[in-house]
Amino acid sequence: MSVTDKIHFRMMSLMHEYLYRLFRDPYRVLDAAGLKPAQDVLEVGCGPGFFTVPAAKIVGQEGSVCALDVNPLAVERVRQKIEKESLTNVRAILADAAQTGLPDESFDLIFVFGFGHQVSDMANVFAEVRRLLKPGGVLSVEGWLGRLVPSTQLFHPLNRQGTIAQYRNAA
Ligand SMILES: C[S@@+](CC[C@H](N)C(=O)[O-])C[C@H]1O[C@@H](n2cnc3c(N)ncnc32)[C@H](O)[C@@H]1O
Repeated sequence: MSVTDKIHFRMMSLMHEYLYRLFRDPYRVLDAAGLKPAQDVLEVGCGPGFFTVPAAKIVGQEGSVCALDVNPLAVERVRQKIEKESLTNVRAILADAAQTGLPDESFDLIFVFGFGHQVSDMANVFAEVRRLLKPGGVLSVEGWLGRLVPSTQLFHPLNRQGTIAQYRNAA
């Protein structure tokens, strides 16, 4: 990893950890995304983990959170947070969202926040998310960009609250 990548991650972390908190309540956003106790949840592109610990607290001991990122610095940072909070229902893994290697139909809900502007192959990410969701599972996406709207062949729109749109697996 280059020095530039490290500086970029450090700046993103500072912004997420100090600035985001001033105007974003992660619990409120996760509520809009549909997170509930006892769900098995995948967080795609967790970054430094602004949402990860709150998500783990919402799903509780009956549920689980898998936080995934392609950046090893993000995974390391989230692992530090998990350890600091002594959480046992959450793990952070290094993986590409378009090809995670996780088993089929593993999750009740998958959320994809702050992602679209960085990723060129959203169609492949949505296809992978579809594979990973249990039947009737929910995909929650943050953002308005057209490319953040999954194909209707894969997902049906459920509802939208502000910038968060929920979808259900198409049959
Ligand atoms: C802007 S951050 C958003 C972090 C977090 N979701 C939030 O909203 O606070 C986007 C994250 O997506 C990750 N990312 C980008 N492309 C990815 C991919 N193909 N697979 C997994 N993660 C990816 C980046 O490394 C970065 O940490």
